[in-house]
Amino acid sequence: MCGIVGYVGPREVVPLLIAGLRRLEYRGYDSAGVAVVHDAGLERQRAEGKLDRLVEKLAQQPLAGRYGVAHTRWATHGKPIEKNAHPVTDSRGRIAVIHNGIIENFLAIKRRLQAEGWTFATDTDTEVIANLVSKYFEEAGGDLAAAVRRAVPEFEGMYACALVAAGSAEDEVVAVRQGTPLVLGAGEGEQFLASDPAALLAWTRDVAFLENGDVARLRRAGITIWNRAGELVERPVTRLDWDPIQVEKGGYKHFMAKEIHEQPQAVRDTFAGRVDFETGEVAFDTLVLEPEFVGRLTRIQLLACGTSWHAAHVGKFLIEEIARIPVEVDYASEYRYRDPIADASVLAIGISQSGETIDTVQAMETAAERGARLVALSNVPGSQATRMSSGVLYTHAGPEIGVASTKAFTTQLAALYLLALYLRRQKGSPLAPEMLAGLAHLPQAIAEALALEPETDELARRFQQASDFLYLGRGIHYPIALEGALKLKEISYIHAEGYPAGEMKHGPIALIDDQMPVVALATGRRTFEKVKSNLQEVKARDGIVIAVTDRDPEELDGVADHVLRIPSVAEHLQPLVSVVPLQLLAYQIGVRRGADVDQPRNLAKSVTVE
Ligand code: AGP
Repeated sequence: MCGIVGYVGPREVVPLLIAGLRRLEYRGYDSAGVAVVHDAGLERQRAEGKLDRLVEKLAQQPLAGRYGVAHTRWATHGKPIEKNAHPVTDSRGRIAVIHNGIIENFLAIKRRLQAEGWTFATDTDTEVIANLVSKYFEEAGGDLAAAVRRAVPEFEGMYACALVAAGSAEDEVVAVRQGTPLVLGAGEGEQFLASDPAALLAWTRDVAFLENGDVARLRRAGITIWNRAGELVERPVTRLDWDPIQVEKGGYKHFMAKEIHEQPQAVRDTFAGRVDFETGEVAFDTLVLEPEFVGRLTRIQLLACGTSWHAAHVGKFLIEEIARIPVEVDYASEYRYRDPIADASVLAIGISQSGETIDTVQAMETAAERGARLVALSNVPGSQATRMSSGVLYTHAGPEIGVASTKAFTTQLAALYLLALYLRRQKGSPLAPEMLAGLAHLPQAIAEALALEPETDELARRFQQASDFLYLGRGIHYPIALEGALKLKEISYIHAEGYPAGEMKHGPIALIDDQMPVVALATGRRTFEKVKSNLQEVKARDGIVIAVTDRDPEELDGVADHVLRIPSVAEHLQPLVSVVPLQLLAYQIGVRRGADVDQPRNLAKSVTVE
């Protein structure tokens, strides 16, 4: 979950590495550091806390070198203090390593190295990498890649690392990937590496992802990659069509605000070119599921975490109702530990914005081992989930930088809707005209929901001091209650729970009082009256009701204290609209409480440890 950047080439290395870290800070912000190599040796600068602290330090004590590595940390082993910040050096001071992941057997290696006289100055697992590689570097006569290749089989766990050494024969950065992402970017006479392609967009859009077990050596003249077996290999280059401008805030105070407002366009982009409104056909360029295969399916398993797991729940409704195929939704982190039933009659779909969430990737591996066919629903071309799958359904959200997922979620819903239509067609059933008609109007409906900003801000002002929130919804709107609660928790640190409205009376109703706001999705036709009755139960106990509805607000007279009216769209598409005011409310409460909404405490955008 840490961010890694490395560079070798003619540019000024420190500003370049800092610019790369800026794009990665969402991956962790406990500390930051940079190490460079120059003629006289290796130097580093590190600082506890956010990247700005490191930048301030560098302004006072500048660093310069020919090539280097930099890191932004999400602490796993060792407190988030400067002593434990990366780059970590070996005890002879000639190797610097940046690391994302965990070396599970670090204690055993540490003891062995200590017995040989190597010393340790940090509480991190990373330091064993620095010392072990240093030992082999000496024995390999200053060949860093050889030293890394020799050390790697001794490490257990999942990690991505980049290393530089004083005394290398040429300017070079050496990288290794085992389980956590590492992407390379090649330029003319210069090479880049990072843990996320977004970090490289300013310099290159041609990226290649390392495979597990790969060791790469980046020199000015080019990149050499060895696979786990020690063979020289090449990795395919993916061209990203992301615009570098998308990773700027574009006048917004936070990435999250910008990304919330990008949703009409992102959803439009996700539908674009995939639906033929005249013929009623849906097709994807990177995913084909043959009619015979779809006809044989006994069920679909949706594997995901967090917000993507909420999207999966909406997907279950969509696929079951539109395509009539049974769907199971699993927390990816639970799936592989529960002896799941999967075989060749199962389609397992990993839903992951980043495509790198380790829980999701591992659940997908488990499904594949049992014979299921794998598909990835992801936003990041070339990411791990996409590479391991037989087909990919891309969301076209563009890079999402805010840690709290917003446009990635709505585009996942859009993609799942398309998938449901596609599966229905592959089963031989026609698409009713209204199934497609609703799509054209959807971006406009989302834009209209965004216009609720002044109203949600007023609610944020009123309820910013609340200590708990309850979110209620029914049917396809229930996952939106879960998502609204997660958004609020993540960025405002207010406790919030999402619940199926009908379940409230089986327990949570005990919490209702005149202090706790209850946000209710009172939308749609099927469950509106039922939700209204549930809200009566809240009002009867003096609860405060904030209703999000596409109905005439008068219908909620007496049951809602505050009404947020959203445009009405087809019920299957309503979640894409009703989530918008919940995102705005969470954002505005977070901002009013002074929270760092783009980089909430303890979180990281891409969770690459189990
Ligand atoms: C969303 O706001 C979260 N920060 C988080 O729950 C996220 O959705 C989850 O970690 C899964 O990420 P992924 O979609 O990249 O796999």
